Amino acid sequence: MKIAVAGTGYVGLVTGVCLAEHGHLVTCVDVDEAKVALMQQGVSPIYEEGLSELMNKNRDRLTYTTDYKAAYADKDVIIIGVGTPEKKDGSANLSYVYAVAEQIAHSVTRDCVVVVKSTVPIGTNDKVEALLNAKSDPSIHIHVASNPEFLAQGTAVRDTLHASRIVIGVEEPETGELLKAMYQEFDAPILVTNRKSAEMIKYASNDFLALKISYVNEIALLCELVGADIDDVTRGMGYDSRIGNKFLQAGIGYGGSCFPKDTKALHWLANFHDYEIKTIKAAIEVNENQKLKPIKIARKYFDSLEGLTIAVLGLTFKPGTDDLREAPSLVNIPIMLDDGAHVKAWDPVGMENFKKRALGDITYCDSIESTLDGADVCFIFTEWPEIKNLDVSLFSKEMRQAIIIDGRNCYALARMEQEPVIYHSIGRRTIFNLNRG
Ligand code: UDX
Repeated sequence: MKIAVAGTGYVGLVTGVCLAEHGHLVTCVDVDEAKVALMQQGVSPIYEEGLSELMNKNRDRLTYTTDYKAAYADKDVIIIGVGTPEKKDGSANLSYVYAVAEQIAHSVTRDCVVVVKSTVPIGTNDKVEALLNAKSDPSIHIHVASNPEFLAQGTAVRDTLHASRIVIGVEEPETGELLKAMYQEFDAPILVTNRKSAEMIKYASNDFLALKISYVNEIALLCELVGADIDDVTRGMGYDSRIGNKFLQAGIGYGGSCFPKDTKALHWLANFHDYEIKTIKAAIEVNENQKLKPIKIARKYFDSLEGLTIAVLGLTFKPGTDDLREAPSLVNIPIMLDDGAHVKAWDPVGMENFKKRALGDITYCDSIESTLDGADVCFIFTEWPEIKNLDVSLFSKEMRQAIIIDGRNCYALARMEQEPVIYHSIGRRTIFNLNRG
C-alpha cells in the first residue's frame, strides 16, 4: 500500500518505519526541515533501539519530506501521528491534529482512509472526518479510522512489530477491512470496533496502568509506615494472574509523554461531562506527591541543601530513552539548585537534553565514579542498568558521606546492609549504617 505518515516523533516515525518493514511504501512528513534532512541521511532523530537499523534496511521503501501536498495527494492511507500535548487546563491540545487534517483536505486527489494514531479525546475522530469532508474536493470520499498505538519508548519498535493488540475503530466495514489488510503481516491480534470505543481503549489502557503504579506507590508508603517490604508484597501479588506481575514496580512515580498527559486528559473529559472520575484523580494526586519524595527524604537530614555536593544518577523519565518529559529529575533538581546545592549529574543518554532545559548551574560528569566523588547525598532517579549493576562499595569509597536516596529500588537490601551507608528506597526499610565503616 502507499502510505503517508504525518509527524515523525516516537509514534509517527516508528509506525512508518515498521509499515515499511512489512512491505508498504511509506512517506514520512514533518514540518521540521532539519529533522527531515537528518532522516534523509538515514539518521534517526530520536534514540530508539533498533530504529536506525530498520530505517537503513528499508530505505528503498521510505521517503522523508516536508512537502505535505505531494505526500498526501495519492495515498491509500494517511496516518496522523502528531503530538497532542497537554494544555494548561489538562485537556489535550488538538491544534496539530486539526492542522494536519486541513493540509490533508487540501492535498488529496483521490479517495483514501485517514487514520488517527495520535491519542485524542473521545469524539475527535468524528470531528476530523467532518473537517476533512467539508474542506476537501466534494467528489473525494475520505473515511476516518481511529487506530491508537500502545508503544512504550525504548521498546517502541518491538511493541509495534509484535503489538499486544491492534485496535481499529471504524464506522463502516470496508475501512476496517482495508486496515486489517495493511496490518496483515503484523504479529498481533486485531480488534475492530467503533471509533469512540477505540479512542476510549487508548485512554482506559494508559490510565489503568498509571492507576496501577499510583496504587503500588501508596501501598509502598504504607509498607514504610508498618514495616513491610514492597518488593516482596508486589512479588506476592504478581503471582495472581488476575493482577499480573507487570507495572507493580514502586518508585518515584510515572513520567513520560503519555501517563501524566492521558490521566489529566481523561480527568478533564469527565469534568467536561459533569462527572468526576475519582480513581484517576487520586492517581494524579498520588503521582505528583511521589515525584517529590526524594527531596522530602533529604529534608529529614538537612533543613537546607545549601553548600552540599549532590550526586544525581539518572535524569530521564525511565531507562532506554533520552526523553525527559515529566521526569522526577525535573522537579527535584531545581529545588536542590534553589537551596544552593552543588549538583553533579550523570545519565548515559539524557545529559544533552537536560542541558537544553537550562535549569541552572549543574556539573555534568562522564562517569558514575566522578559523579559520586566528594558528594554528601546521592539521588537515583532512573534505574539504568549501569546504575543497577554498580559496585555498591563505590558509594562509601567515593562519597564524603554516603547518604543514598534511591527512587527506583535499584539494590537489594541484603547487599546494602553490608555497606557503611544510609540507604533510603521506596516502600522498604531504611538502612542506617553510616557510622559503621
Ligand atoms: C507508556 C505505555 O506503556 C504505552 O503503552 C503507551 O503507549 C505510552 O505510555 P512509556 O511512557 O514509554 O509508555 O513508558 P512506560 O514504560 O510505560 O513507563 C511510564 C512511566 O511509569 C515511567 O516513568 C516508569 O518509570 C513508570 N513505571 C512503570 C513505574 O513507576 N512502575 C512500573 O511498574 C512501571
